[in-house]
Amino acid sequence: EAFFRQEQKLAGKKVLVTAGGTMERIDPVRYITNDSSGKMGFAIAEAARLMGADVTIVAGRTSVQPPGGVKVVRVESAQQMLEAVQARYGDSDIVIKAAAVADYRPVHVHSRKMKKSDDKLVLELEKTADILATLGAAKQGQFLVGFAAETDQVEQYAMDKLNRKHCDLIVANDVSADGAGFNVDTNVVQVYGPEGLVEALPLMSKRETAVRLLAIIAARMERRHS
Ligand code: CTP
Ligand code: CA
Repeated sequence: EAFFRQEQKLAGKKVLVTAGGTMERIDPVRYITNDSSGKMGFAIAEAARLMGADVTIVAGRTSVQPPGGVKVVRVESAQQMLEAVQARYGDSDIVIKAAAVADYRPVHVHSRKMKKSDDKLVLELEKTADILATLGAAKQGQFLVGFAAETDQVEQYAMDKLNRKHCDLIVANDVSADGAGFNVDTNVVQVYGPEGLVEALPLMSKRETAVRLLAIIAARMERRHS
């Protein structure tokens, strides 16, 4: 398969990838999570390794196995993902944030199983830290890539995220499009840079999407250093 024969475009680069969904605890047996499978992040990690990079994945909950030949750090919550990523940020050349991070978490994590009582229950939630924005604000030469899962106004939201979080690229996908989004093996993405649309990739496997994305990143890093 062509996927397994890649030019060593990322030789010597340290790549940090986040994948999967975070889990926000409610009590010892319950949590809030999302539909992320980890497939896109894992495909990126595998492609980066095939291109010669030294790869670390920080993974939340996933429904598939991580690729071989890469370091895997498992985390549960957004807070744990933030800490795991921050600890490795200074030592990374490229950071790709494919994880679906919870935007809110329960204010109170119950230490015992909650018992049912009233007919209605209100869970109070608070915002999690924005990992990508935190990394963007602390950038020291790292090439930072974010994702944007949208259902509408894709370009506008993607560019807003790129600027607000100081990313070098945003990979946007319209999760309402056929063959895109969570838990499938294919994706349809548009890659945005500071100048606007860089490339609109057609429907293709997540593996092929990963290779095309990493080729754009490698080309931009090379241009930066020449
Ligand atoms: N992200 C993050 N930390 C968060 C939320 C999101 O690092 N607490 C990252 C995601 O990993 C992704 C990017 O930010 O790379 C965009 O995530 P997305 O959910 O599309 O954007 P949000 O900024 O959370 O905005 P919204 O959900 O309102 O669209
Ligand atoms: Ca979000």
